[in-house]
Amino acid sequence: MPKNILITGANGFIGSFLAELLAEQGHRIRCAVRKNSNLRWLDHSQNEIFQLDWNNPDSLKRAVSDQDIIFHLAGVTKAKNNKTYFEGNVGITQSLLDAFDRYGPAHQKVIYISSQAAAGPSQDGTPVKESDPPFPVSVYGQAKLETEKIILSYSKDHWATIIRPPSVYGPRDRDVFALFQNIHRGILPLLGDGTSTVSLVHVYDLINGIDLASQHDASKDQVFFICGDGMYDWSTIGDTIARCLNKRPKKVTIPVFVLDLLSRTSEMIAYFSSKPALLNRDKVQEMKQKHWVCSNEKAKNVLGYMPKISLQTGIKETADWYLENHWL
Ligand SMILES: NC(=O)c1ccc[n+]([C@@H]2O[C@H](COP(=O)([O-])OP(=O)(O)OC[C@H]3O[C@@H](n4cnc5c(N)ncnc54)[C@H](OP(=O)(O)O)[C@@H]3O)[C@@H](O)[C@H]2O)c1
Repeated sequence: MPKNILITGANGFIGSFLAELLAEQGHRIRCAVRKNSNLRWLDHSQNEIFQLDWNNPDSLKRAVSDQDIIFHLAGVTKAKNNKTYFEGNVGITQSLLDAFDRYGPAHQKVIYISSQAAAGPSQDGTPVKESDPPFPVSVYGQAKLETEKIILSYSKDHWATIIRPPSVYGPRDRDVFALFQNIHRGILPLLGDGTSTVSLVHVYDLINGIDLASQHDASKDQVFFICGDGMYDWSTIGDTIARCLNKRPKKVTIPVFVLDLLSRTSEMIAYFSSKPALLNRDKVQEMKQKHWVCSNEKAKNVLGYMPKISLQTGIKETADWYLENHWL
């Protein structure tokens, strides 16, 4: 049965794919965007584009009032200072929850897209589970964890669930893209000895997992890692990208202190720009961790989630997309 669905952050990388998936299923999608959001990934014919003013209670009221499901993806992922991380995650979520509480229909479901950063890294390489105590190592992770807390508190009286993706890759992504770009230019940068391990998820697997969580009653009040199977070291990921791009890049080891210096320099440059630095000290704090690995067992057992895209297939498809769209 078609539902009214609000997606915040709908114009972003993950949100735009989620909007496509849900529109294909026949739902009526309201895409909440900001005044100056870039709308290039949104299909205006399939979606209602709703310009949401997060500081205006009336705008929030109109956004949420007749919606059955809310996928909340909007949030600051890179910022120049701590305040921006908290305002752009905890602050906007609190405003949204206040609006749900007052104007949302009683059956309204909320699915919040948090991050593996909220849980923090694994200490010994064992995939982190949802039941493990969280200890975020970055300000971004702390802000995501604080946001989870207000969502969980809200879910005592309402239907809400939390999804924690690890690094997401796929077409349209600009973060893991930096690695594709370096390899395309002939360099495979590796931090330390390149043996740090990570979980990854392809954006198509992620949106399917998010969709599943919204359909299962058992996901109310719960937290789920949605990630691909397996964990990989950056050297293996880099080699896979290189094969898909038909390149033989030179492996260059970057010592941590160089990364620290680079992040300070790029923060200084960003100081004079309106945009935050792509590489900042908060990001480096995350990059220094040895094991960003998490477990998808709970999602498999409770939601029936099953990632379908192998690393090889996902990287190949992503590399082809970057080439076809002249990003590389
Ligand atoms: N990509 C990943 O690897 C990854 C991993 C784990 C979790 N996540 C989470 O998934 C969500 C979506 O990420 P994404 O990769 O799709 O990011 P994205 O492409 O950068 O999209 C972020 C969205 O959030 C909106 N936004 C940013 N700051 C905001 C603010 N202060 N107030 C209101 N809206 C704001 C953006 O609007 P504008 O376009 O107007 O700026 C955009 O619509 C985020 O919550 C992120 O934390 C992402």
